[in-house]
Amino acid sequence: MTNQNRLIGKKLLHFDVIDSTNEYAKKNFFKLENGAVILSDEQSKGRGRAGRGFISTRGGLFFSVVFHSKLDISRLPIYTQLASVAVFKALEDLSINAKIKWPNDLYINGSKVCGILTELVGSKDFHGIIVGIGINVNNKKDEFIKQNICASSIEEETGLKVNKNTLLEKILLYIDEIFLDYEKNSDFIKYKPILIDNSLIIGKEIEITFGNEKTIAKALDIDEFGNLIIDFNGQISALNAGEVHIKI
Ligand code: BTN
Repeated sequence: MTNQNRLIGKKLLHFDVIDSTNEYAKKNFFKLENGAVILSDEQSKGRGRAGRGFISTRGGLFFSVVFHSKLDISRLPIYTQLASVAVFKALEDLSINAKIKWPNDLYINGSKVCGILTELVGSKDFHGIIVGIGINVNNKKDEFIKQNICASSIEEETGLKVNKNTLLEKILLYIDEIFLDYEKNSDFIKYKPILIDNSLIIGKEIEITFGNEKTIAKALDIDEFGNLIIDFNGQISALNAGEVHIKI
């Protein structure tokens, strides 16, 4: 699978260790070309959503994609969903069956193996985004247990030793295809079947934590803005990824 005219990953910066590929991409955003990819074998300060950290030890795949694109900020959640689709499809090509957990994770056998952090960069008149993806590929589960983190790796869950370069290349090609298609046609709904049919939470009761508040609701759907539609005691509402945390 090659695409000679690809944009994403044509320029790739590969580090051995870095604090965070998202941080590097943000700091150097205006120097980096559109579609550049920052890859690191380890991160000393991997970032997760809502100010959390992301364990990034050797064996995993940690990278950020730079997009120079004038964006409507409200579309940010859509980019996270599209990145989930790209990772899902790359894993599927390797016969790995993952589940997508809205808003930004992928799970295998009920354990988290991938997290996505999409961040906005720029000023009033120029915006771009950084899409950061972290995948535990050949990591040992012990690393997570030791740090009291509920996560696993592809190898632990499937017994498969996946080649990280193969996986990266597949994901970048899917990002290239899907993101450029979305920028051209603004058709997010087209990707909804993948998100819904392979969702870990749609159709299920979920626990939603917002600040100190916890509620139980049923996850129903994903709307055209990438929000989660929930049924809370018969009241249907759209949940923005924001600061919410979801448990099944
Ligand atoms: C999450 O689980 O909340 C999102 C985790 C995102 C981790 C990736 S790893 C590459 C990129 N660099 C970071 O510091 N974070 C993202």
